[in-house]
Amino acid sequence: MWREIENIKCINPLTQTEIQELIGKAIEARNKSYSPYSHYQVGAAMLAGDGQIITGCNIENAAYGPTNCAERTAFFKAVSEGVREFRAIAIVGSPEGDELTQYAYPCGVCRQVMMEFCNPADFQIIVAKSMEDYHIMTLGELLPEGFGPENLR
Ligand code: THU
Repeated sequence: MWREIENIKCINPLTQTEIQELIGKAIEARNKSYSPYSHYQVGAAMLAGDGQIITGCNIENAAYGPTNCAERTAFFKAVSEGVREFRAIAIVGSPEGDELTQYAYPCGVCRQVMMEFCNPADFQIIVAKSMEDYHIMTLGELLPEGFGPENLR
């Protein structure tokens, strides 16, 4: 079951071309995953407001705690380069191997990081098992009533 892009209720829905490009780049990024402990590989590709695509993979650590998720790798790479406007992110994650066996929804910490920089009504999250098999949701759907910068204004 996957949602047609026409059903997405957001201000600026992605085109089919954008969706395909993001999923392809997320799959490529997953190949860079450093995950010798969990053997769970994740890749993410994020579309910035200016059209550039920033990728990330999960990076694990022998002390476990410092492990960074693929989504946050992409966000921190982007923000550290001065990019702060984002439209969408594609995520692919599954146990080691070329096959994507599950939809990898972002963890709670990554959803909160998204909340810092993205409009929950408009930021689109694609979780994909292949180029053709994916779900798209907005951040607001994945993090309802989220706490963000607006609360502190
Ligand atoms: N992981 C991500 O990269 N993104 C998520 O949203 C969930 C989990 C990574 C962290 C760790 O390297 C591995 O998946 C298993 O938890």
